[in-house]
Order: sequence, then C-alpha cells, then structure tokens
Amino acid sequence: MCGIVGFTGKLAAAPVLLQGLERLEYRGYDSAGIAVLDNGAIRVEKVSGRIAKLCEKTGNGALVPGAAGIGHTRWATHGAPTDQNAHPHLSNDGRFAVVHNGIIENYLELRKELIRDGYTFQSETDTETIVHLLEHYYDGDIKAAVMKTAARLEGSYALGIVCTDTPDALYVVREASPLILGVGVGENYFASDVTALVSHTKNVIYMEDGEFARLTPGAITVYDCTGRELQKPISRVTWSVEAAEKGGYEHFMLKEIMEQPAAVKAALAPRIHDGKVQLDGFELTGEQLRDIHKIIITACGSAYYAGCSGRYAIERLCRIPVEVELASELRYADPMVDEHTLVLVISQSGETADTIAALRECKSRGAKVIGIVNVVGSTIAKLSDHVLYTFAGPEIAVATTKGYTTQLTVLYLFALYAAGKLGRMDADRYAALVRELQHLPRRIQQTIDMNWQLPALASRYASQSLFFIGRNTDYAVALEGALKMKEISYLHAESYAAGELKHGTIALIEENQPVIAVCCNESLMDKTLSNIVEVKARGAKVLALSFKGNKKIVSQADDVIFIPRIETIFSACLAVVPLQLLAYYAAKGRGCDIDKPKNLAKSVTVE
Ligand code: G6P
Repeated sequence: MCGIVGFTGKLAAAPVLLQGLERLEYRGYDSAGIAVLDNGAIRVEKVSGRIAKLCEKTGNGALVPGAAGIGHTRWATHGAPTDQNAHPHLSNDGRFAVVHNGIIENYLELRKELIRDGYTFQSETDTETIVHLLEHYYDGDIKAAVMKTAARLEGSYALGIVCTDTPDALYVVREASPLILGVGVGENYFASDVTALVSHTKNVIYMEDGEFARLTPGAITVYDCTGRELQKPISRVTWSVEAAEKGGYEHFMLKEIMEQPAAVKAALAPRIHDGKVQLDGFELTGEQLRDIHKIIITACGSAYYAGCSGRYAIERLCRIPVEVELASELRYADPMVDEHTLVLVISQSGETADTIAALRECKSRGAKVIGIVNVVGSTIAKLSDHVLYTFAGPEIAVATTKGYTTQLTVLYLFALYAAGKLGRMDADRYAALVRELQHLPRRIQQTIDMNWQLPALASRYASQSLFFIGRNTDYAVALEGALKMKEISYLHAESYAAGELKHGTIALIEENQPVIAVCCNESLMDKTLSNIVEVKARGAKVLALSFKGNKKIVSQADDVIFIPRIETIFSACLAVVPLQLLAYYAAKGRGCDIDKPKNLAKSVTVE
C-alpha cells in the first residue's frame, strides 16, 4: 500500500517530508518521492528503491528548498516500480503535482480521453490521469478544479496536491482511502497514516469520504463534496509512534488479518463491471478456452493451498480438468504440459525460486501462463504471459493471510470469467455468483466480528498436536489452517481429508486429542458429521467450523466456530479467517515470535 505525507509551514519542508516517509516505511514500498513548492515552481525528486536513496539524492532534503510540499511511498500496482512511475506526478504545464494512495479504476478510459485532448503521459500509472485532469479543469479556481477532477474518478483515493499559484497551500481529497490532517502551530500536515504525524502533533482531523481540504501554515478548511465548508472536530491521538506503525495492533499478522475485507475488496472492485467479470487488460475468448485441455495450478506454501481451493471453483464452474501441483515437484516431474495447457502460477512475492522454475518448465513446453501475483514487477509477473494482480498491499508478517485470501478471490474471479466465456452457466446463476462475490468483503468482516471467542478456544484446543479435517473445499481450508498453526505456534498440526481418517490416522486419536473439523460444505455435511462422531467415540475433543444456523453441528461438536452462510465454492475465503485467528491466538498464548517465526522466510528465493 502506498503512503502519502504533506507539510506546510515556515521550516524547510523536504526534511519533514522525508522523515514522514521513513515513518511509513514499515508498510512496504518500492519507490519514493517528494515535490516541494519553491519560488513559484515545483521541484520533484523521486527514486525507485529505498528512501535512503532519496535522502542521499536530496542531501537529506537540504538541496530541495521550500516550505510546502508533498511526499509519497509507492507500492506498485499500475506499472513497474521505476523512477518514472514513482510519485509525485506533474501536470504538463508544471503547475500541479499530485501524490495518490489508492487505485483509480476507470484510469484507462480517462487516459484515452486525456491523450485525445493532447496531454502527454510520463508514466504507466493510474495516478497520472489525476494531475492532467486538474490541469484540464483549472481556470484559476483550484477548489473547482479539484472538485471537478474528483467527480471524474472511480475507485479509491487519498490525494495530496500542490499548485504553483498558491505557494503555501496543500489540497487533499479522500474517497475510500485513509487520510488524516495534523494540526500544528503555524504549520499543518497531512498523512495517510497517523504514524507519519505523531512525532509532530497529536492533534488530528480525520477526513471522511467525499471530503476535500485546503491547508496553509495558519489554517485548515474542510469542505464536503458540494463545496460547503464543514466544522470538523479535532481529535487527540494517544498512540505511541511504535503502536501506530502497526495501526494499534500488537502484530502485523493481526493487522493483516483485519485488513482482509479491504484487501479482498481491492482485488474484486476493478474486475467487476455491470455484473460481469473482466480480466486486467487481456481477454480469453470462448474459443481460446475451449482449446485448453487442462489447467495446472502451481505454487508453494499457502499459495499452493489457495490453488487447492481454487481448483474446486474452476472445475465446478468451467468443467475443465485442473491439476494442482507443488512447484518444487512440478519442476522435476517431466510434466505433461503442452500448448493446450493453461498454467496458473500463484505467488504473493512473485520471487519464490521453485515457483519460478516450474513456470519456466511449463513455458518451455508451450503452455500459456497466467501469474496471480501480489508484487508488481516481480519475476513471476514479468515471466507470465498475463498477470492478475491480487492487490493485497504489502504483507509484512511472514505467515501470509491477506495474501492467501486475495489469491482465492482472484481464482474465483477467473473461474467465473472462464465459465461465462465458455457459456457453461446460465445467466441467472452467473449473476447470483457475481453478487455473492461482491458480498465477500462484508462477509469476511462479519466472520471476524462474530468470532470474539477465539482467544479462549485457542487456549482450550492448542495445547498439543492438532488434526484438521474436512472434505472437498473444506479439506483445502483444513490444509491452510494446519499450515498456519504449524508456522506460527510451532504446534504439530496435520490435515486430513475426513474420509481418509479410517485408513490410518484414526489410530492416533486418543482421549482429549484436539480435532478441528471444517464443515462448511452443505452437501457433504452428513459425511463429515459421521467422521466427527467417529473421532469423538475415540475420545477426541472436536472444534467444528460451520455456517451460522447449522443446528446439527452444535449437537455433535464440543465447540463451534461460525461463519456467515455463503455459496460453498467461495466458503474457503471465510472459513480460513477463524483458523488464521486460532493460530494467531495459539501462538500468542505460547509466547511465539508471531511476525517472524523461527526458520521461516517471507520470500523463499533459493531452492
Ligand atoms: C513462504 C512463506 C509462505 C508463502 C510461501 C510461498 O514459505 O512463508 O507464507 O505461502 O513462501 O510464497 P509466495 O510468495 O510464492 O506466495
């Protein structure tokens, strides 16, 4: 996720902006930049890579004079992490500079229109459209230009703007992206994150969606979307700098679990238009899809388990056979892959060595490759024929959470898209599933809200080795649930297809053995229930996970975690959330280093 900062006062702005950007570093970024107003001109300095490089380039800000400016850390979404794509972006006439946090969903359409009107683009970003729109609408009234520009934008944005005609003013607008104003004495600030403000001031104004503000050293004026002036309350921040970096959460993992509704929304929103799923800048026709004899999904770790879940959605909706292969196995398997194979390569980092090798192996045999990747410009993104970005934002905790759920979301979108193109679904069912997908972010939030009892359940169940069982999509969730538990709590956890229990594992069930039973698949409910009865008869204590209102499960399990009702093929995206939290609280209870578990790395770039 990007970060933005702004400062206007009597001091030199650049050092304050650089310090603010350093405070946002923890969020992850791949380039950074500042724009400072000086003597009727805007000076922009930006670099790909670290803020330290920007500090070096600007003599820690001393080489960029001026008392008002804006800054940005970029996490690439549209266009690779290059100097040109870094923010701030300048208008063609040099009058405006803009920093932006969020995604402009209609940027392609705006870009075409602006090019037609004669504007030239220096970057591949969605953001650059904003600065050209400002120039386009400006006739001496900045407030009017900003409001007209905002009215054209679809998506999410927190914008910081400077204009050479008002040398000590900053302008900000917010829509579905965080934005906070810092109230100082003879100086004022803005930032996307309170972290960048707390060392300067604890007096803040929280901006709401649709609001616009003008900041000068002596005044802050906030307006609503109709241009009416608002009286906004000033709040007092009580967080320490350290706590603010994690947004008040004790660990990045918990913060990232809580970010899942927003992350899944970011993955869905740009791809659903008028009730139809679209891919990003590429299409697959029904004819091309019919030419695909099989799909291979390949990945490592949680990304592999996302593939295990996604397989059910693709096979059920598209009726194309899907094989899910561990990349470390596929690369040496002499795989049966040819030009009739579509390979979906899943990776949060886009840099996992085994996944890259499997991708190359499949490509060399003629397969078409679609990368499902979070990090823009990563190796897997570059090697793939097409990329579907997951838009999860930076993930800091080693154990993935929002990375996984956004991968699932993209797989669901792909399954619906392909089924639609193949004509394998009737229109009503297609429309109902699209609607169901659009509800996913809200349902994830409900899942989080209704599971306040998880800390207590974690202490009851995470006391020894655990078994996770389930069937079909529930089995895929059990795999990821057990992996999360192993990774961060260091407890032994195994997942089994529930029907396999009687072929060996049941011999291990003794008095008080914890079994986590995932039962969200209604058509297989009775089957899994009978497995619950089997393990209970041998002394197991069973924590079941099922949809709200399932009375049968309450009578059989010792404890139940509920999720809202949802179409079975999408249920993994909800069911995994309590299992992430269960692992989190188990690890916390055991005093583990949750964000940096021993022996594990976030990105495994060696074999
Ligand atoms: C490591 C991480 C896992 C991740 C796996 C694959 O093992 O700890 O959380 O699922 O790598 O990483 P990727 O970046 O390819 O998704």
